[in-house]
Amino acid sequence: MPAIEFIVVGAGIAGLRAALELSDAGHGGILLLTKGELADSATRFAQGGIAVAVGEDDSVALHEQDTLIAGDGLSRPEAARILTEEGPAAVAALFRWGAAFDRTAGALDLAREGAHSRSRVLHAHGDSTGREIADTLLRQAAARANIQIQPLLRVSSLLWDTAAGRVSGIECRHASTGEVVRSQARAVLLATGGLGQVYRDTTNPAVATGDGPALAGRAGAVLADMEFVQFHPTALAAPGAPRFLLSEALRGEGAILLNPAGERFMPAYDFRAELAPRDIVARAIVAEIRRSAAGPDAACFLDATALGAQELEGRFPRIVATLRQFGWDLGRQPVPVRPAAHYMMGGVWTDLNGRTSLPGLFAAGEAACTGVHGANRLASNSLLEGLVFGARAARAMAAESAAAPTHGEAIAPTGGVLPRPELQRRMAETAAVIRDGISLRAWLQELAAAPEPASAAGNLEDRNLTLVATAIVRAALAREESRGAHFRSDFPRPDPALAGCHSFQRLGHPVTFSAAWDQHGSLPV
Ligand code: SIN
Repeated sequence: MPAIEFIVVGAGIAGLRAALELSDAGHGGILLLTKGELADSATRFAQGGIAVAVGEDDSVALHEQDTLIAGDGLSRPEAARILTEEGPAAVAALFRWGAAFDRTAGALDLAREGAHSRSRVLHAHGDSTGREIADTLLRQAAARANIQIQPLLRVSSLLWDTAAGRVSGIECRHASTGEVVRSQARAVLLATGGLGQVYRDTTNPAVATGDGPALAGRAGAVLADMEFVQFHPTALAAPGAPRFLLSEALRGEGAILLNPAGERFMPAYDFRAELAPRDIVARAIVAEIRRSAAGPDAACFLDATALGAQELEGRFPRIVATLRQFGWDLGRQPVPVRPAAHYMMGGVWTDLNGRTSLPGLFAAGEAACTGVHGANRLASNSLLEGLVFGARAARAMAAESAAAPTHGEAIAPTGGVLPRPELQRRMAETAAVIRDGISLRAWLQELAAAPEPASAAGNLEDRNLTLVATAIVRAALAREESRGAHFRSDFPRPDPALAGCHSFQRLGHPVTFSAAWDQHGSLPV
């Protein structure tokens, strides 16, 4: 194994794709680490699929247009263009590496999902697309001599080289032995995934604790668009069951939504009915629950019975089997659903090549914010994002950095921490699908008063969650309008003055808004 030159934090789709790109370009040693087991990434749980314009009736321009419309006017057009234009080649690489997507009579089976104007979602094993992609990429990574895969290493801080003015490596703690390890590198990529664990109800795995934005934020990096958290409309809402995702592809195949009284309601909210963008469907479900007399634990229902039990079994085997474990028969009865935190549109600010505002530090995938998703991500665009922007970040890492630095001080994790159950409950109450200024302001004061923990070692993830919760609430309070996934009941309409404006923040400084993606440079350091 050659000496480590690059560090990739996170073994989901963006991290794996970046590591493979660095490896293929013949660059020295690549350390690919993950804090859990390799099977823990959100990528592996992805059901619906990967959106890409490969259908005969489809085009890059249509995919781009759908991405921009779902983003509610806030997606960066350059990023949406890159995502959709580079998408087909990115997926072709998956085919070359052996990924097998579902076919009908030899032709790729393209599914439809919300806010897509064409059927363009590739899927595998029916509803286990993420598993197929993760296994394919991991097989490739394991076969490369210059990639060292290291599970169970949790990054506690970035290393900062003051003389060079750059991030120069990482400090980690081994999850089981507690051993502290330092590693220096020419460039560090944060591909740590999402932060769904900041909310009580989430479709994300337990590892989704916002580690990338927290590490970068603590080091002084700019975070962008942190107010935009996507809630997936249909997570299982059965007592005693986890918030298991019921893929949007079910609605794509014809499943409908019923309110607590058993009535269909989506056509009254949007002409696209159940296939409206996610933010619209999630808000409609919350509104129907609130207006029902069934109490706060009420749910709406996803009714897929018209699709036929046998067809459902064939197309959605994992969903059918999982629901059965919890006593629900998708083919024969409507299943209770409520929105759950699913995807962070915001994150560590990056340019189109994964560069953050700190030299030496890169980010890709859900941890990053390229602006591609704007105020609301189009369904099944996130796996594609990981492939396209993971590879781009790797190329920029290799091009930018010359020699591995030899210095670096760990950036100490400062800031308060709240107990996770309290944090999750308060985030669910104040910063979820519907928000208002009075509640956000009061909650921000509580967050600011969070006590410093007695020891740094034990509660790193809770610290990270408290930091990203604070960033979400600050941005949500500052954006006095409603747009995409950010809905303020006290400002229920978009503010024309904020059209196209992204939010930028650096820890300890006010949130600023600008339509120019690079304007974060004016933030105080
Ligand atoms: C789903 O299958 O509904 C989730 C896919 C996504 O989040 O894009």
